[in-house]
Amino acid sequence: MKKKYIIAFDQGTTSTRAIIFDSTGTICGIAQKELPQYYPNPGWVEHDALEIFNHQQEVFKKVLITSKISADQIAGIGITNQRETTVVWDKNSGKPIYNAIVWLDKRTTEICNHLKKRGLENYIAKNTGLVIDSYFSGTKLQWILDHVEGAREQAENGELLFGTIDTWLLWKFTDGRQHITDHSNASRTMLYNIIKLDWDKKMLSELNIPHVMLPQVQHSSSDFGNIVYQSKKIPVYGMAGDQQASLFGQGGYKTGIAKNTYGTGCFMLLNTGKKAYQSNNGLVTTVCCTLADEPIKYALEGSIFAGGATIQWLRDQMNFINTASETEEICNNTPSSEELYVVPAFAGLGAPHWDMKAKGAIYGLSLDSDKNDLTKATVEAIAYQTRDVLDAMIEDSGKLMKELKVDGGAAANNYLMQFQADILNIEVDRPEMLELTALGVAFLAGIKAGIWTKKDISKIRTVDTLFKPSISEHERHRKYTGWQDAVERTKTTTP
Ligand code: G3P
Repeated sequence: MKKKYIIAFDQGTTSTRAIIFDSTGTICGIAQKELPQYYPNPGWVEHDALEIFNHQQEVFKKVLITSKISADQIAGIGITNQRETTVVWDKNSGKPIYNAIVWLDKRTTEICNHLKKRGLENYIAKNTGLVIDSYFSGTKLQWILDHVEGAREQAENGELLFGTIDTWLLWKFTDGRQHITDHSNASRTMLYNIIKLDWDKKMLSELNIPHVMLPQVQHSSSDFGNIVYQSKKIPVYGMAGDQQASLFGQGGYKTGIAKNTYGTGCFMLLNTGKKAYQSNNGLVTTVCCTLADEPIKYALEGSIFAGGATIQWLRDQMNFINTASETEEICNNTPSSEELYVVPAFAGLGAPHWDMKAKGAIYGLSLDSDKNDLTKATVEAIAYQTRDVLDAMIEDSGKLMKELKVDGGAAANNYLMQFQADILNIEVDRPEMLELTALGVAFLAGIKAGIWTKKDISKIRTVDTLFKPSISEHERHRKYTGWQDAVERTKTTTP
């Protein structure tokens, strides 16, 4: 039987999915399951890593059954994942020694402050591409080794393994045969030297991490081993962090392409080519998806912690809406309330501000403010945060951008996309198919499997809507300076 399908495992912060694509890039099956979040202390966010693996297995089986596609028609699997989230497990029992510490978790703020006091900011920026923040894996891994009894000794004896979610899933699905990650995920750990393309000895020693527990690092499109399903071997040919995967899916393997994904957070990446720009404006430098026969390419990234998560907050905590899609109609039917701003610093402020201690805030309430006004201001905050990042990106790269490609769940909201174009004053290009993260990793696997070449990618992505800026410069300036003022008031004075 001819193998012609690719399966993408997309393990995000709030859901676990398996999506089957055919050789035209069309979705032939999709299965998904919500992922429970655990908040054991204020500012802490955890996942159960075994639950993640079980959910991924479930959706994998389900998508094959519901699409009636058999395992021997699958040419390869691609794994894409929420990045930075940290898992440590016992390689003999196969069990995690602690819950996965999620990228949003703030418990390592003090460890980060120590790193800053030790004057490591410049070294870390230059060699790992990152800023010192609890967002990245390094300090989370250190925390686990310091807080789980006996962990450090076990790690030094080679009994424990570390991985981000890609590595954990691959290890479990291959019954412990493969302990591997790819360049794009490694570049989010604060332990990886993105210039030398190797684990960074100084960072390992600063954070006291034994080298023996780290995975091998490979190209994102390469052979990661086989998953056995109903006695059939299916090769894993692609692995990438979700944001780099969506950049790839958007055609962002080319220098100069920028995209923003509206997921739990918002992540804007600009492919800067072979040059690793060091940001002067609060962005990080990250490794794009890598292919074996091509030079390494870098991206400037602006990571916003609260994107779609703010809509979830409106739904689950505030009970203002029943479904995320209602926000579009509410925004369209609610007059703009001057000077009302929601700054959703629920997990501190990410790029370009990097304030780990900031908390969410609302400014400009009056007696007639109601839940619709707050809903609209919360949706608009997603677009304002994106403007903060885009301005930093233009400043760092010295390039004016003509358009921004978008994807992710909240990109379906027409009000948000139009407001985004208005606030950025550039065109916002939304593709017909918004599952660019899954498609991106499917491309990586499909290229290795010989189904596609890179040139096919731009043919598969088709434009749905081009949102054009439609407000006056005066109005844009007035709205945006109000936002900037609100952000300044939200920042904490001490780091
Ligand atoms: O860096 C965190 C990011 O990878 C999370 O992505 O899609 O779960 O919001 P998502």
